Amino acid sequence: MIINSKLQDALKKVPQSIPPVWLMRQAGRYLPEYQKVRSKAGSFLNLCKNPDFACEVALQPIQRFDLDAAILFSDILTIPDALGLELEFSDGEGPVFKKPVRSPLDIKKLRILSIEDDLHYVFQAVKKIKQELKGKIPLIGFSGSPFTLAMYMIEGRGRSEFMYAKSFVYSNSSEVKNLLRILTENIINYLDFQVRYGADVLMIFDTWSGILSSDWFEELSFKFNQQIANTIKSRHPNIPTVVYSKNCNAHLNHIKNYKFDCVSVDWTFDLKRLKDKFEGKFCIQGNLDPTFLLSSNNILKEEINKIKNIMTDYPGFIFNLGHGISKDTDPSKVSYMVDIIRDIS
Ligand code: CP3
Repeated sequence: MIINSKLQDALKKVPQSIPPVWLMRQAGRYLPEYQKVRSKAGSFLNLCKNPDFACEVALQPIQRFDLDAAILFSDILTIPDALGLELEFSDGEGPVFKKPVRSPLDIKKLRILSIEDDLHYVFQAVKKIKQELKGKIPLIGFSGSPFTLAMYMIEGRGRSEFMYAKSFVYSNSSEVKNLLRILTENIINYLDFQVRYGADVLMIFDTWSGILSSDWFEELSFKFNQQIANTIKSRHPNIPTVVYSKNCNAHLNHIKNYKFDCVSVDWTFDLKRLKDKFEGKFCIQGNLDPTFLLSSNNILKEEINKIKNIMTDYPGFIFNLGHGISKDTDPSKVSYMVDIIRDIS
């Protein structure tokens, strides 16, 4: 039993006058206490790979703000790293793989991981965070979607359009589907073990499939995400699942067929339209543009209230950002934002 059930209630589509709130990347560089632990760890990846440090930073935002959920501190690129692509993070550049997937032969070499051993550090972090939360609020576990992971693995780094990766995908689509199948199986096992070690909710980050046309979205993203949702539901019927669909407004006709409990959206989605389209099938999570946290309090308040007013009668709404919080955010803005959401001001 979790004491604060606001998030779980929203995921069960219980209407609430004050929505639950948590923030994507709530543990991160905008917090001075995070910076301290990160420099102790030496790098972001060392931080992720040390369960004590990962637990410490996961708890920081919930100690500072009145949030309704904690999220595992890790990254979506842990699976490709465990597959041998050798992940590195350099300042200003983001993630880089030393050994990206560059040919169909590279795909053939990939394997089904011994997930519990290969990503032991992640499950230890889940366990520790869960223990420290003492049942006060739920813990969200997560993975990247198969397509989003594949984009990073092929491109070898983050890019705004993933042109190289996308053209590789179109030129080698049957081999890429094999890559997506391998990733899907690894992701299912990864999420399964996160639940066994204590995760209460699971979220798939599908950050990049918005770059696809409708039929390719269905073939390369939707089908695999759907398989993950179905398998997790069959193994853990009581664990709610969330899919983050960035820039996927054009794919709503597919998205409305998802078997996830909740769809998390960015600010380019029109919430009024989503409410009509989903007809109460999903809980909705989102969708404040994190840039508003860099604006004045008045502007921020106006934008928060716009979202709240639209979603007030909707059964199942979680207030969140539409993407990760910027590292330039002043933490006091987050306190202000939470107060406005809770009508304390
Ligand atoms: O939300 C949380 O607090 C949990 C932890 C979390 C991180 N990354 C920590 C992180 C989660 C859920 C993610 C997801 C993630 N990681 C996604 C999907 C969501 C999204 O943002 O679209 C993606 C695409 C990644 C890959 C990734 N990790 C990139 C592209 C970058 C560099 C860009 C950036 O913001 O610096 C990261 C680094 C990263 N992941 C940081 C954190 C706290 C910054 C690390 C640091 O420099 O200390």
